[in-house]
Amino acid sequence: LNGIIIAIDGPAAAGKSTIAKKIAQKLNYTYIDTGAMYRALTHKAIQLDINLNSDHDLTALLENTDIHLKPDGDNQAVLIDGIDCSEEIRSHEVTAGVSAVATHMSVRKLMVEKQRELATGTGVVMDGRDIGTAVLPKAELKIFMTASVDERAERRFIENESRGIYTPLEQLKQEIEKRDQSDSERAVSPLKMADDAVLVDTTSMTIDQVVDKVIVLAEMRM
Ligand code: C5P
Repeated sequence: LNGIIIAIDGPAAAGKSTIAKKIAQKLNYTYIDTGAMYRALTHKAIQLDINLNSDHDLTALLENTDIHLKPDGDNQAVLIDGIDCSEEIRSHEVTAGVSAVATHMSVRKLMVEKQRELATGTGVVMDGRDIGTAVLPKAELKIFMTASVDERAERRFIENESRGIYTPLEQLKQEIEKRDQSDSERAVSPLKMADDAVLVDTTSMTIDQVVDKVIVLAEMRM
């Protein structure tokens, strides 16, 4: 069987990375978390006090930044200039700033180049917002993964709790809605379901049910 390319897009906290990781494990594919790349740039920009609205400064920063995704057990480690920042890129501050960084056209152009290079082999699962529409439009399988905003906020709440973080549910819901709005309304490669994507609403599905469903769809395309 030949490896295929699986693109998984969808709004914030829909479970894309959890599912994508498990599928990559089961199929022995490479997993690429593109959100982590935008988060890495945002983290470095915040550290260096760079204006998140400056297309020019962010692009220059990205040109001088090495972002490396590395398998780490069941997870994916994110190295920025060789330093493991896997935890830091999930901070509240980075989450609040990342959608602004992701609106810039020249930032996206460089990111998309990097992402395509990472996907040159076969057997790839890539998740993000514009994978099926812009990064890998020829992907054999495109999934658009959603869940109700209440469900997504609840899942994020439980995930946060397990990491010892407490953010009120209502606040999480508002933050998710705000990020979705920014990601869907930006001019360059907005979050949008590709015409040939399969819509998977995970609201009342378990993780294993979603994984099984995507694997069946993938096997039909191998
Ligand atoms: O997937 P995650 O929630 O970590 O993504 C963080 C942010 O990065 C998104 O809200 C979006 O602004 C941006 N992003 C993007 N395009 C991608 C992946 C992520 O614009 N392919």
